[in-house]
Amino acid sequence: MPSTTKSRRPTGWSPAGYTTIRGTTSGIEMLSSLPRLWWRNECAPKTEWLKFTRRELPDEEGVYTSLMDEKSVSPILSLPGRENIGLGRHWHGLSVMLWVLNGIVYVTLLFATGLWRRIIPTSWDVFGEAWESLKTYLSLDVPDISHFQPYDSLQMLGYTFVIFVLAPFLMLTGVAMSPAIRNRFPRLIKLLGGHQGARSLHFICMVLFAGFIVVHVSLVFLVHREHNVIHMVFGGGEVTSARAAQALVIVVVTIVAVVVFWIALSYWSLADRARAQRFTAAFTEIGRKIFLNRLRPLGAANTVDTDADVSKFHWTNGLPPTEEESTVWVKARDNNWEGLTITVRDDINDVEKVLSVDDLKKLPRHSYVATHTCMQGWSATSRWTGVRLTDVMEVLGPRPEGARYLLAESYGLAQKMYDNRPREPFYACIDLDTMAEATSILAYERNGHEIEDYLGGPARTRVESNHGYKHVKWISRLMWIHDFADYGDGRGGTHEDSALQAFNGRI
Ligand code: HEM
Repeated sequence: MPSTTKSRRPTGWSPAGYTTIRGTTSGIEMLSSLPRLWWRNECAPKTEWLKFTRRELPDEEGVYTSLMDEKSVSPILSLPGRENIGLGRHWHGLSVMLWVLNGIVYVTLLFATGLWRRIIPTSWDVFGEAWESLKTYLSLDVPDISHFQPYDSLQMLGYTFVIFVLAPFLMLTGVAMSPAIRNRFPRLIKLLGGHQGARSLHFICMVLFAGFIVVHVSLVFLVHREHNVIHMVFGGGEVTSARAAQALVIVVVTIVAVVVFWIALSYWSLADRARAQRFTAAFTEIGRKIFLNRLRPLGAANTVDTDADVSKFHWTNGLPPTEEESTVWVKARDNNWEGLTITVRDDINDVEKVLSVDDLKKLPRHSYVATHTCMQGWSATSRWTGVRLTDVMEVLGPRPEGARYLLAESYGLAQKMYDNRPREPFYACIDLDTMAEATSILAYERNGHEIEDYLGGPARTRVESNHGYKHVKWISRLMWIHDFADYGDGRGGTHEDSALQAFNGRI
């Protein structure tokens, strides 16, 4: 059997506008990895409310993987483009961290300086005045300059909506897509319409935000241009043609510089993707550590997700092992899992035991309803039943000294390797805290029956606080290890090695 073991290889132009653009282009990378949007969690074929692909989905489960649905987008439009969902996710994380930081500083200064009075309306008259302004714009005229002292009513309403409604909602729907948040605050996610509701609302908010930026920047040039650019760049003063020309040059050069920098970032990322992974993930991990790592799933206390939520359709990522990949698995599948073994190993002290699926079923049984989310965007809710990972590993006795991670390995191979080298067995490592969570199990049943071949049968890991790439289907062995740096490419899993995902799959 091929093995991952010890095969280490050498291996406006304001910051707000800028980080929003990066948030959008990195978002396009994620959207292109599954260019469809749904409202219902099961993401069934032909139920999308919006799609950016002509491909039709087959009705049959388990024959079409989400990787097959991925679209390649130009690095000019997407960050970084060319089917690099892992890096797109890191760039999105980093951009939105800067975007949020920028927003916090902005709002703090707004209130600390009293300038909020220029933006937030304090009289109901604003609605009537805004309506008049809108009518003026719609008749292709512009409101008189006296309305812009400093902002006209429509502008004030627009700013207030974007800063205090749209931006917080983008944040809420963004974090709602984190499995760690979903498993800790299931009610909130349900309120947003589940994972797909949050994803679709997030997309709609992005369109409104990007639309606001485009309209806003266009109006700067269309409505009292000289007055606007002088106020934006110099903060006010005399309106003369010379000052307006200077300000205009500064504005245009800044916009061009931002666009060039964002396209350059794509090419910088593609030039050395592993370097881009190290750089971006180092920052995003800070956010995960502060906000997500301590959130433990509710487990049995979660009464929000019930059997009534179970999906009728389940997407897959990765097809079952073929004869070439694992004759052992294929033979066992054809023999009702007769002879299939799961090795439980202490790789530090070279001790192991072999279990059958029946042995597994004799261990304490745990069952719960949970939603699986793939980092590409699809989701499906199922009832999973199995044995807690801590209980499985206990068949070896107490946790060996020096064991810091659990490595789960599959009979199946990786779908695609990072540099197109021969495919290796799929594996994923998790830390001890994640392993100890109540919803980290080795599952052998889904919705009350054996797990389907294409969903990981006869046994697969479930790590509900993490996205699907940290789960392992068609499990062949579970191992105590000291350091994931000694396995595979040393990044902690096949998706980390081959798709440059983050080790931490909590968002
Ligand atoms: C705190 C702020 C934000 C957070 C936490 C956040 C988080 C997320 C997450 C978790 C995803 C799904 C990624 C995945 O797991 O594959 C996503 C997708 C996306 N985000 Fe954000 N985001 C935020 C702000 C923004 C902003 C400011 C924009 C742009 C204006 C944006 C645009 C997008 C787009 C276009 C997608 C792709 C939609 C999809 O395919 O699911 N996001 N975001």
